[in-house]
Amino acid sequence: ASDCFERGLLSGRHVLINAGPTREAIDPVRYISNHSSGKMGFALAEAAAEAGARVTLVAGPVNLPTPARVQRIDVTSAQDMLDACLAALPADIFIASAAVADYRPASAADQKMKKDTANEDGLTLTLVRNPDILATLAEHSQRPDCCVGFAAETHDVLNYAADKLQRKKLDLIVANDVSQSGIGFNSDDNAVTLIDRQLERCSLPQASKQKLARQIIARIAGQLNH
Ligand code: CTP
Ligand code: CA
Repeated sequence: ASDCFERGLLSGRHVLINAGPTREAIDPVRYISNHSSGKMGFALAEAAAEAGARVTLVAGPVNLPTPARVQRIDVTSAQDMLDACLAALPADIFIASAAVADYRPASAADQKMKKDTANEDGLTLTLVRNPDILATLAEHSQRPDCCVGFAAETHDVLNYAADKLQRKKLDLIVANDVSQSGIGFNSDDNAVTLIDRQLERCSLPQASKQKLARQIIARIAGQLNH
């Protein structure tokens, strides 16, 4: 193919990918979430399957078809997503493309909350931190050989991404400048910079998420096989 993608690059490998947003319940009818479409993660799952891998895709709530030959597990909250990822181990490669909510309500109400007189001036929700799925898997006794993160940033993109790579002990991070319109969140195109453990950078110019996914998979396979 024009992007040098080779079929069979990942044959015999198990690739675990998470994708999409998570939803954190406030009550039975309300939640906190974000605008992640899941498109990049689904494109990565498709590319990994095309490269011959066995692929497990743990997906938050998204509106996307399941790629061929991909085992999809649907989840809602960050905690569910962590549990599903842990249950899918062992894996050779973990790609954390999900936009995991950093916080969740400290407790979800069992019944629909009413805007009663007690909350006339507003409502304060107490939020607690969610577990870090990527950091948990990267420190796990069954750690995948290659752990790949994403960093969506609006400023100081490469510095923040390199910091996350080191803090979470990753093998590769995909840095994504989401301040530019037309690429990134929700769009069909993206442009990213890959940063490896030696802090070597490789820029992948704007292209479809399918094309970028193949380039990212080829790069991960190269790193794993050398
Ligand atoms: N991530 C995760 N679990 C979380 C938060 C983030 O697995 N609870 C993963 C994301 O899937 C991504 C990477 O960590 O691969 C970086 O996510 P990002 O939101 O950019 O970083 P955070 O560490 O959450 O820091 P911040 O949001 O403050 O920039
Ligand atoms: Ca975050």
